[in-house]
Order: sequence, then C-alpha cells, then structure tokens
Amino acid sequence: MRMPIFAAALAATCWTVAAEAATVLITGSNRGIGLELARQYADLGWDVIATSRTPADDDDLQALSAQYDNLRIEVLDVSDHEQIDALAKKLAGTPIDVLMNNAGILGGAPDVQSIGSIDFASMEQVYKTNAIGPMKMAEAFLEHVAASKQKKISVITSGTASLRNVQPSPFYKALYLYRMSKTAINMGYRALSVELAPRGIHVGILAPGIVETRLLQQAGYGGMGMATEDSVTGVIRNIENLGPETSGQYIIYNGDTVPW
Ligand SMILES: NC(=O)c1ccc[n+]([C@@H]2O[C@H](COP(=O)([O-])OP(=O)(O)OC[C@H]3O[C@@H](n4cnc5c(N)ncnc54)[C@H](OP(=O)(O)O)[C@@H]3O)[C@@H](O)[C@H]2O)c1
Repeated sequence: MRMPIFAAALAATCWTVAAEAATVLITGSNRGIGLELARQYADLGWDVIATSRTPADDDDLQALSAQYDNLRIEVLDVSDHEQIDALAKKLAGTPIDVLMNNAGILGGAPDVQSIGSIDFASMEQVYKTNAIGPMKMAEAFLEHVAASKQKKISVITSGTASLRNVQPSPFYKALYLYRMSKTAINMGYRALSVELAPRGIHVGILAPGIVETRLLQQAGYGGMGMATEDSVTGVIRNIENLGPETSGQYIIYNGDTVPW
C-alpha cells in the first residue's frame, strides 16, 4: 500500500532531521558548565562529542552517555597538543558545527593570585589551558568546522577578563592568572573572527555569568552563582544567534555585550 502523501512528507522530514543532526565538540565536559552543555545539546538532539581528561573517572559524564545514544566520549587534555592533533586526526571527515572550548582553570585560590604570592608555575598552566588550548583547538579543528553547516568556533571566557571589571569593590579579587589568560583568549578569538570571516566561520567569545561550579568555589565566591542550567541555556541561545553581527563580540549569557 502506498503511504498517504502527508505521511510520506512527514517521514521524509523526520529522516532529513535525523540525517542532518548538527555536531558539537565540547572540552572539559565532565563537570560544571561543560557537563551541562553536553546534557543540553544531547537533549536538543545534537551529536555530542564530549571530551574530558579522564573519562574513566567521570561518573556523571558516563551516566549521561548511558542516557543519550547521540553522546560519545573522547579523551582530551587541551594543554596537550599531541592529544589535540590525534583527536583531530581521528575525527577527520567529521564536520563539527560548533567547536566549544569550555575547559578552563582558575589557577589556585585568590591568595596565590595576589601580588607578593603569585604562583608563576601555575600561571604557565593557566595560560596553556585557558588561552593557548583554545587557539590550538581552533587551528587543529578548523577544517572540521569549515566542512560543517553552522561553522562556529566558541570559547567560554569570563567577565573577569573585562578591563572595566577591574575596580575596587567589596567583592574584588585580583585573580591575575585567571584574568590575564581570559583577556588573552578574548583577543585571540577576536582576531580569529576577523581572519575567519571570509570563510563564513563565526567566532563566539561567550561569558557564562557567575555560575555555581567548583571553579567559583575555588575563587571564594561559592554560593553567589546561578544554576549551571540557566547559564548554559543562555550560552546555547547566544551560539544559535552567532552570525556576522555577533562574531568576535564579547557576549554574556543573557545576550548583553560586555565592554572589553
Ligand atoms: N563558574 C563560573 O562562574 C565561571 C565564570 C566565568 C567563566 N567560567 C568558565 O567556564 C568554564 C567551565 O568552568 P566551570 O565553572 O564549569 O568550572 P569547573 O567545574 O571547575 O570545570 C572546569 C572543567 O575544565 C576541565 N579542565 C581543566 N583543565 C583541563 C585541561 N587541561 N584539559 C581538558 N579539560 C580541562 C575540568 O576537567 P577536570 O575534571 O579534568 O579538571 C572541568 O571539566 C571555564 O572556562 C571557566 O573559566 C566559569
């Protein structure tokens, strides 16, 4: 029996949607904002490549992967360039619509991020993770993104990178390691947005707001943040809205622009 025209059209549409699921690759997706990004993208039906340094130990991420067929886990330390290149090679031929550089570290408690007690060894690791890692990722995965439909490269930056955000207040903490690394990647991704515009690739410089995660607790602001769900819903909306007008802009989770 022939399928009624409406049912045939619906089946064709469903197949098209299933066949064309967009792909997101997320770094640091085993907890905090990264885990919630993986969860929300999986829930939206995206193909999620959730990366983490130590998947075997990541119970929450493993539970997510058991829940969603469209989520797979890959090992990735963003400060290890050989690992980045190896994953890019393994994923050759896989278009990546959104490359989401979420992994980040604070670099220690505020008392090792104040003048007189700056931990320079940690500073190097903070730069490797927060600034150099996302640049290396953009370079290694450029052709995967260029081959995709949406063509978006994003980094989760921080409002603490804003030069306007450095003023005395009861809540002010110097956080030299963290702030400097995030301002550095802001500039890197701003420049990237200009260089990649002719290829139709859009670059997101996205601040998540103040979010209740381990990093926030380490910074001494525990209890002052919003739920990861609310922040990530806003971040995903900002990625959806990423286009020629917003590429290379510094945007917070609610869609507002942050002063550099
Ligand atoms: N929470 C906030 O209020 C806030 C505000 C502004 C910006 N951010 C940014 O949001 C992002 C996520 O942070 P979060 O708040 O969710 O903190 P979090 O709970 O501490 O999570 C940080 C994530 O980054 C991963 N990571 C650290 N170093 C890595 C490396 N070398 N390679 C791969 N993954 C690595 C961690 O994995 P491990 O478990 O292996 O350490 C973890 O999954 C960071 O970039 C952070 O700077 C957070």
